[in-house]
Amino acid sequence: MINGAIQLHGKLEHTNLMKEKKQTAIETLETTVDWRLGNLRGPNIQRSRKLLKDLTGVYPQHASSGLTSDTEVYSVQWWAPAEEGQEGGLFWGVTHLHAGRVGNEYFMTHGHFHALPTRAEYYTAVSGRGILLRMERSGRTWAEEMTPGTLLYIDGRHAHRVVNVGNEPLVFWACWPSDAGYDYGTIARDGFGLRVLERDGKAVLVPVVKEEHVEHID
Ligand code: F6R
Ligand code: MN
Repeated sequence: MINGAIQLHGKLEHTNLMKEKKQTAIETLETTVDWRLGNLRGPNIQRSRKLLKDLTGVYPQHASSGLTSDTEVYSVQWWAPAEEGQEGGLFWGVTHLHAGRVGNEYFMTHGHFHALPTRAEYYTAVSGRGILLRMERSGRTWAEEMTPGTLLYIDGRHAHRVVNVGNEPLVFWACWPSDAGYDYGTIARDGFGLRVLERDGKAVLVPVVKEEHVEHID
């Protein structure tokens, strides 16, 4: 009994020492951001790149001269300290959307709804000039300006697509829940209600007219 008590006491002392060590040392964290350049450094940073050939179906027009199917349209880096799909976690990422056009349509992201409509997201731009297209499930679409310093809160029920309407890369940071998930399928099938086209050097919003289903009566 006495031995047991002594052992327990020893364990407690060890635990207290550990805690003390943690409380008095300032830890150097490995994950850092280069805010302006839009770079993430540290362990477990994930990366993805989207080339023109990955965006088939996004542009109704064919690639204009100077573009090959291997042209990079955008890249994303994100830190996933929580598991994908885990409730309560957050992801932190940055997108570099290059300047360019396919025909007269500006470079843009795929765009998606979150799989869970209760999961909102923040976007904030640090360089470049862009437009955030947002769309409700009903198809109602609108556009919001993205310039350095703008902070956008995206309701979890809204699809979101970013369009670069400037002459330099559009860099924006994002923060979203680890269980938000992605629904790309709806956008791939229905698109957004607006397209952003270049006309006389300016970005214009053009409504997409959907073909109505017409019943043929013989
Ligand atoms: C995450 C998010 C962004 C985008 C990124 C690329 O929910 O909205 O990190 O994933 O800007 O756009 P998509 O995913 O539409 O190709
Ligand atoms: Mn999102």
